[in-house]
Amino acid sequence: MKTIRIVDVLRQGSDLVGKEVNVKGWVRTKRGNSAVNFIALNDGSTVHSLQVVADVANFDAALLKQVTTGACLSVTGTLVASMGKGQAVEIQAASIEVLGTADPEKYPLQKKGHSMEFLREIAHLRFRTNYFGCVMRLRHAMAFAIHNYFNDHGFVYLHTPLITGADCEGAGEMFQVTTLDLENLPRTPEGKVDYSQDFFGKYTSLTVSGQLNGELGAMALGKIYTFGPTFRAENSNTPRHLAEFWMIEPEMAFYEIEDNMELAEDFIRYLVQYALDHNMDDLQFLNDMFDKTLLERLQSVGKESFARLTYTQGIDILLKSGHKFEVPVEWGMDLQSEHERFLVEQHCKKPVIMTDYPKDIKAFYMKQNDDGKTVRGMDILFPKIGEIIGGSEREADLDKLMSMIRSRNMNEKALDWYLDTRRFGTAPHSGFGLGFERLLLFVTGMANIRDVIPFPRTPQNAEF
Ligand code: 4AD
Ligand code: MG
Repeated sequence: MKTIRIVDVLRQGSDLVGKEVNVKGWVRTKRGNSAVNFIALNDGSTVHSLQVVADVANFDAALLKQVTTGACLSVTGTLVASMGKGQAVEIQAASIEVLGTADPEKYPLQKKGHSMEFLREIAHLRFRTNYFGCVMRLRHAMAFAIHNYFNDHGFVYLHTPLITGADCEGAGEMFQVTTLDLENLPRTPEGKVDYSQDFFGKYTSLTVSGQLNGELGAMALGKIYTFGPTFRAENSNTPRHLAEFWMIEPEMAFYEIEDNMELAEDFIRYLVQYALDHNMDDLQFLNDMFDKTLLERLQSVGKESFARLTYTQGIDILLKSGHKFEVPVEWGMDLQSEHERFLVEQHCKKPVIMTDYPKDIKAFYMKQNDDGKTVRGMDILFPKIGEIIGGSEREADLDKLMSMIRSRNMNEKALDWYLDTRRFGTAPHSGFGLGFERLLLFVTGMANIRDVIPFPRTPQNAEF
């Protein structure tokens, strides 16, 4: 008999009553008495479990003893209308096969209410929880919706390399990639490491962003996006930073900063609406169990447009607020999360697109404004999370870009291939990067970024 997924059983509900079905899944709980056992079976297709009813008299006692939390079962039986509350249908088991036992003495998920920290330590167990199931289904839905959105809007999905010779953000947070023998490094006559003997014949690292490569694509194909893992060796042990995270980076020829902002806002709205339209069961569960204002926050994103502020306006608001911040506010500083959160949560009370940052705190590639002090960068700041998107209009003028590169003592030669876009057929263009896990923090209401990625990588932690 063909196995049917539990989500489909529950969707079809009363249409299947009286029919024989086979379901396979893992036992969440078993309760009952000497006459009848009630087994909650979950197969990961939905947050809801299917109730299996087993009349004790019909089964071998030794078999029912193996039906414990965590065990894997194949159950065949007739679907019947349920008399219990909480479910419309249940399965009256005719046969139960134990595919895999889970020794109750050793299986750690016997009771509910394990902390997130505890679950992070046990990779296989985390996947079996309702919360992580919801998060993983939402993660999938968002990835799918991202490709959908760009496909519908005429973007080409460009695969940019993970191994690179350039530090896009210039922050020096790169993981080095090498096959040199670290115990016995080849040296140049001046005593430096001789990278000409390394695998690629030069110094290389894992990428912090696909943007620079993406710009080459946009300057020929018009609109492209990348969606892949990025790596940052920043030693920030915060609930919002990962050493390996996924980023979505669209890059568009002929877009100026206004077009860039409009796209970013429309894109995020679409994604949030997609989750509301397709994953309501998961969102409802997370709303009820973790964050009672989740649905309200998600719905409000669709209703009103994001606030727009320049950096200078933002600084003015903070200075005039009379609020005491841990890090004092002054023009030119990199805003701390307390400042961003004040602007978003207390002042504007909605997501904020902030633009025109001081050039010294932003990357070299951003378009320089005429004031000589600011650049056409744009960050999108969200409630509870802070920065979710970073982007800009790009400096399209070769001379201006070169002067920025030189003033920062960057390795000009390593960027020559990139600078060719400004030498040959340059044009206004823009793009941004959306942190996939930051988006998921917003969509799921989770408080820690480690809880929205299957296998988190953070300082001192690459266990599974
Ligand atoms: O602001 P960032 O550094 O921008 C760039 O890398 C640009 N090259 C993007 C572009 O214009 N194509 O990073 C973009 C986003 C941030 O807004 C944040 O959401 C996320 O990436 N991000 C991180 N997410 C998790 N852990 C980290 N350590 C992150 N660093 C950045
Ligand atoms: Mg940024």
